[in-house]
Amino acid sequence: MTRLHVATLAALGLLVCAGVVAQGTPKRSGFESMSPSLQAMQRDDVQNPGMLWVADGEALWRVAPGSGRSCADCHGDLPRAMAGVAARYPGWDATARRPVNLAQRINACRSRHQGAAAWANESKELLSLEAAVAHASRGAVLAPSPVPELAAARAEGERLYRQRMGQLHLACVQCHDELPGRRLGGTPIPQGHVNGYPIYRLEWQGLGSLRRRIRNCQIGVRAEPFAHDAPEMIALELYLAQRSAGLAVETPAVRP
Ligand code: HEC
Ligand code: HEC
Repeated sequence: MTRLHVATLAALGLLVCAGVVAQGTPKRSGFESMSPSLQAMQRDDVQNPGMLWVADGEALWRVAPGSGRSCADCHGDLPRAMAGVAARYPGWDATARRPVNLAQRINACRSRHQGAAAWANESKELLSLEAAVAHASRGAVLAPSPVPELAAARAEGERLYRQRMGQLHLACVQCHDELPGRRLGGTPIPQGHVNGYPIYRLEWQGLGSLRRRIRNCQIGVRAEPFAHDAPEMIALELYLAQRSAGLAVETPAVRP
């Protein structure tokens, strides 16, 4: 470990003395490191603010744009139409011949099958539909798609996860595999699992995507964040989904 690295971690209040967390640490959803009151907020659909986006998404699912067909016209009713789908995303888009996350898959239907303009990243419409589609998998176990076309991008995602970045010269793996449970400026470091997205985050006072969360961590280490649709971002999402395999979908999760 370089001196710079020790100094950086010390500055962040993360003096590494115990070393690497034992391999085989059980996977813990971020839910488990939250306070009892936030857990109660997430558990109760009436209190969970993320359910407002789910309800909006379920309404949008039935709206036909212009002369096109609604999502429901082609797919049937939620939640049944999409049960289990989010649990295996990102997936392979055989038409575009590239990996796509759930938001991109929804936008592909929007432009290819509805003849309408794609929604902007983090727009209310896209987040609502992503939340509604992911919510249809609530309770399903994350089981990433095994199609071989995804393997190269997933491996690239793992490489990025282990690569130091930013002025603080820290990699995702250092915080999320080596230091979970420690505190960073009072905030407990979670294992960084992706089973609750999109999430309602109190700090955002709104719903946000996994891309937004990852960008927050990149900005935290003073790195140039990946664009929402960058191949690097999708690669990272593929690896993170693999890393979280076996956890149950919680969408919409609540986070501090
Ligand atoms: C005209 C029919 C049609 C409409 C309208 C439509 N879709 Fe699709 N959708 C498809 C088809 C066909 C596929 C299979 C992949 C393909 O050929 O594009 C698909 C695939 C999907 C998938 C991936 C499913 C999987 O198992 O991987 C999702 C998610 C999805 N659509 C969401 C939506 C949403 C959300 C809307 C509304 C905004 C919508 N679709 C509107 C026809 C449609
Ligand atoms: C310096 C330590 C640090 C680094 C490096 C870091 N993170 Fe994080 N990450 C955190 C902390 C702390 C939180 C929780 C923040 C909060 O709850 O306010 C977090 C939260 C997350 C979450 C949300 C987990 C949940 O339960 O919702 C994900 C996903 C995540 N990080 C992914 C990443 C990825 C991918 C990288 C690398 C690009 C990365 N992080 C780099 C400290 C870090």
